[in-house]
Amino acid sequence: MSAAHRFATVNANCLLSSNCSSQILEKRSSATGAMEATAATFGKHIGRWKMDFRSDNIAGISHAIIDEIILANRGSGSSYSEDDQTREVEDTLRAIFECNLRFFPVLTGTAANALALACLTPPYGGIFCSDQAHVYYDECAAPEFFTGGAKLIGLRGTDGRLEATMLDKTVERALQSGVHHSKPTTVSISQATEVGTVYRPDKIEEISEVCKKFGLRLHMDGARFANALTFLGVTPAELTWKAGVDLLCFGGTKNGAFSAESIVVFDGTLAGDLAYRIKRAGHLASKSRFISAQWAAYLRNDLWLRNSEHANAMAARLSTGLSGRAGVKVVHATEANEVFVEVDACTMSLLERSGVQYGIWSRDQGNVLRFVTSFDTKRIDVDNCLAVFQEAESAAI
Ligand SMILES: Cc1ncc(COP(=O)(O)O)c(C=O)c1O
Repeated sequence: MSAAHRFATVNANCLLSSNCSSQILEKRSSATGAMEATAATFGKHIGRWKMDFRSDNIAGISHAIIDEIILANRGSGSSYSEDDQTREVEDTLRAIFECNLRFFPVLTGTAANALALACLTPPYGGIFCSDQAHVYYDECAAPEFFTGGAKLIGLRGTDGRLEATMLDKTVERALQSGVHHSKPTTVSISQATEVGTVYRPDKIEEISEVCKKFGLRLHMDGARFANALTFLGVTPAELTWKAGVDLLCFGGTKNGAFSAESIVVFDGTLAGDLAYRIKRAGHLASKSRFISAQWAAYLRNDLWLRNSEHANAMAARLSTGLSGRAGVKVVHATEANEVFVEVDACTMSLLERSGVQYGIWSRDQGNVLRFVTSFDTKRIDVDNCLAVFQEAESAAI
């Protein structure tokens, strides 16, 4: 899949409807033919769209999180992460992850990744990651910027995962080149991956063994950590520090928060520098209690796990319903909350007129579409979406 194809979100209904075609901003890349379309006047339709599978960040906010923000709004509170909420969340996370970690709230996943990687990587360092990784494709070179020029090296794996054997060979080769190659210092994995698959703890351990062999640090992009965790049914500790992860970028935004991302540091020696990096990057929020309040509600009563369980269940329902259909092929195992399907021209054409919203992941070889479910996805929308596919199948027969 080429970078230029990642990815256009489409309001398919508007695309073909002549009376609203003027509302569409359309860009066509001459190199790839990739099409990106958005409804310019989307705002006025808010609340009406259903069957919206463009991403998990199109969803709203869990009520418990809104309530907690309102609660944090009573009276005053300390600022710059010195607040009670931030301390409470750090304690809660220590219990959840069973270790003496440090917790740093930030506002976006991109900032979390870039600052975490900067902590682990010198400017001349090399960061090995999957060639599908968000840090590699979708962060406008923020990791390169915040590391002061380190190089991201994308490796082709299977189903979006980095593989230990390939990593081992690549690092070995890089080291043989000496100063002519960026110094291998860091490995980054995404949990769940960008194609909705997950790393089992033993696979993380294999990668971590390679890290130990060459003295590299291991970063985990956990924008969808909860989804991976609930799919695997292991403990947070088993999926992170026990498997050799040094830093986790733990996301909440995609799973019910408003803007709550964080860096969780398992190796305390990294924490001091990180605090300065966060401030310098403008990510030390003065009213930090409102970010941490979101985290507090997110972690309380297993909200984070309940939300991700629901999102995963909706993805599984969609994926199961699509498997084996004529004109549709599920292209990656559906393990977290994303479903990737390759569809034939006939199905594509019907989808485009159906009102279903999804992301176009790739148009390299056929149409590969991405459907993302969230804590707020309704079962009826999944079933209505499946009915559209059923219609396409019937029309083709
Ligand atoms: C795997 C992954 N990591 C990181 C991010 C970055 O999050 P943000 O958009 O908050 O910067 C995303 C966002 O889509 C993502 O999918």
